[in-house]
Amino acid sequence: MSGAEGIVSTPLDPVGHALFDAAGPQLRVVANFAVGTDNIDFDAARGRGIVITNTPDVLTAATAELAFGLLLSLVRRIGEGDRLLRRGEQWGWSTSFMLGTGLQGLRLGVLGYGRIGREFGRLAEAHGMTVVPMRTLDGLEEMDVLSVHCPLKPETHHLIDAAAFARMKPSAFLVNSSRGPVVDEAALVDALAQGQIAGAALDVFEREPEVTEALLGFENVVLTPHLGSATVETRLGMGRLCVEALHAVLLEGRDPANRVG
Ligand code: DGY
Repeated sequence: MSGAEGIVSTPLDPVGHALFDAAGPQLRVVANFAVGTDNIDFDAARGRGIVITNTPDVLTAATAELAFGLLLSLVRRIGEGDRLLRRGEQWGWSTSFMLGTGLQGLRLGVLGYGRIGREFGRLAEAHGMTVVPMRTLDGLEEMDVLSVHCPLKPETHHLIDAAAFARMKPSAFLVNSSRGPVVDEAALVDALAQGQIAGAALDVFEREPEVTEALLGFENVVLTPHLGSATVETRLGMGRLCVEALHAVLLEGRDPANRVG
């Protein structure tokens, strides 16, 4: 990064003093290729007058879609069925073979009701779910599904912990497509092992790219490798926003529309 005036960072790059020192004092803008900004030390950037931007809106639909795909895969046991066939196991249609849970009528808590949470809620409503926006864990006991869409901040770190799992219905499902550390993964493993919840679907992990090994052993867990925004058109849109931000700061000397710090 030495000598860079602008940097495009990814969501797992720590953007702070170490990066700024490596780049040098001419660095003016960091365009984060993500909507989440938990990898950014905003105080450090402010102290050095470095502009920070993110990529809102262009990934809302893709991320909500992926979260919904995780939910469907979990409640209808799609991943589990796929694994069964790939193992070459004997199977046959029967009235009680691999029954799942339908979405119609389920009560869905959407924790974090921003752009992505709202879009997820819209998809869920279209599938007959009752959507409950949640700012806190109030009412958690009532939820059939809890889907996490809040940003990672000190106050949301391990928000879904052992105490939260203990409050959930044993028939409830957890979906996380926001940031891994919002969920205490060790507590999740315990909750699954004890049958405190019915299953979980995760696109994000506490120590990415590491995945807590015990999670791999549960059939009622669906895992994807941080694919929320991973569509061709969305990634092009994100890239375009980053380039526009660099252009605005470095070539036009103005504030980019997507400036967040
Ligand atoms: C984001 O934009 O924050 C996503 O996690 C990247 O896929």
